Amino acid sequence: MSGTFRVAPEIHFGFGISGQTGALVRSLGAQRVLIVTDPGIRAIGMCGQIEQTLTAHDIAFTIYDAVSPNPRDYECLAAAELARETGAEAVVAVGGGSPIDLAKAVAGLATNAGTALDWVAPRTFETSPLPLIAVPTTSGTGSEVTRSAVINDTARQIKVSLRDWTIAPRIAIVDPELTLGLPSLLTAATGMDALTHAIEAYTCRRATPLSDGMALQAMRLIGPNLPIAVADGSNRVAREQMMLGSTIAGMAFSNADVAAVHCIAEALGGRYDTPHGIANSTFLPWIFAHDAPADPQRHADVAVALGVAAEDDEPGYAAEQAARFLVDLGRTIGIPRFRELPGIDEDDFPWIASASVANLSNASNAREMTEADYLSLLETAWNA
Ligand SMILES: [Fe+2]
Repeated sequence: MSGTFRVAPEIHFGFGISGQTGALVRSLGAQRVLIVTDPGIRAIGMCGQIEQTLTAHDIAFTIYDAVSPNPRDYECLAAAELARETGAEAVVAVGGGSPIDLAKAVAGLATNAGTALDWVAPRTFETSPLPLIAVPTTSGTGSEVTRSAVINDTARQIKVSLRDWTIAPRIAIVDPELTLGLPSLLTAATGMDALTHAIEAYTCRRATPLSDGMALQAMRLIGPNLPIAVADGSNRVAREQMMLGSTIAGMAFSNADVAAVHCIAEALGGRYDTPHGIANSTFLPWIFAHDAPADPQRHADVAVALGVAAEDDEPGYAAEQAARFLVDLGRTIGIPRFRELPGIDEDDFPWIASASVANLSNASNAREMTEADYLSLLETAWNA
C-alpha cells in the first residue's frame, strides 16, 4: 500500500479569522496584490472587509471582480493581464469556487505565457506562479485547499481542468462567519457539491487510505448539518460544521478524485451554465445507486457515515438507504429537478454523454461508465 497526500500548506479556520488576511498576506512578503472576486461578493461588502485588513497592513491592491459563476478562459486572461500591469506579488481570492478557481489560473498566467487552455492537465506551469491566498465565502468547492481549477473553454462550450500543486493556495483562510448571510438555495447547492466531493472521493477508484478518513468525516459533518444550515442560515454551529466539512472534503477529493457525478455536472456547466452544485445534486443519487454494486461495502460505509444505516446492515441494503436519503435530501433543501433546469434540451443528451465520457475523471468512477450508461442515467434523472 502506498500513497501521497498534499493540501494547502497553511489552513486557518474559525469565526472571524478572515480579519487576519492582511497579516497573513504580509507573512508571504507581498506588498501589492490582485484581489479576485465576483460582482455579488463585492456588492454585499464582503470584499470591503478584506480590503480593510489589507490596508491596515499597508498592502496595496487592485480588484478584478468580473468572475462569472462558471469562470471563463477570457476572464483568466484579463485578470492575469491586470496582475502583470499592476505588479501584483500575490493573488487574493475572495468568494466561492469560481473566483478561487479563476485566481489559480491567474496566479499561473501572471508568470507564464499563453491562456488557461494552454495549461490544462496533465501539463503544469513552467515558471512558479504567484502565491495565492484563498478566502472562501461558501461551504462548497473546497477549492481553498485543492490544486484544481475548472475553467470554461468558451469556444468549445466545455469545462477543462488545470491540476497543478503550484497553483494550490499557499494560505487558506476559512471563516464560517462569511457564510452566515448566504441565501438558502446557494447554501443548498454548494453544500451538495461538498457532499458530492466527499462521496466521490471515498467511492472512486482513486480513493486512498490517506483520503478515506477525511472523506468519511466530511460526510458525517455535512449530512446532518446541511438541512439545518439551509433552514436557518444564522445557525452558527451548522455553518461552522458545514465549512469544516467542505474544506475536509476538498482535501479528500484533491488527493483521490471526483467521478461520474462531476463528469456530468461539468458537461452541463460548460454547455448551459448550470450552477455546479445544482448539477451535482441532480445526479448524485442516481449515480450512487448505479455504482453501488461495483463496491457494496464502500457504498454501505457512506450510508453509515450519513447516519442512515448501521454498521451491521447488509451492504446492499445500506447502500439503498443512502441513495434514498440523497434523493430526499435534495428535495428537502429545495434543489430543482433536472427537467426544471433552464435550457436543457433532451436532444442534447448524446452530446452530454459524450462530454462526460471524455472527462478526465470518468476513469475514476467506481463502476465503468460508457456513453450508453450516461444516456440511461440522464433519462432516469429527467424522469425522476
Ligand atoms: Fe465540485
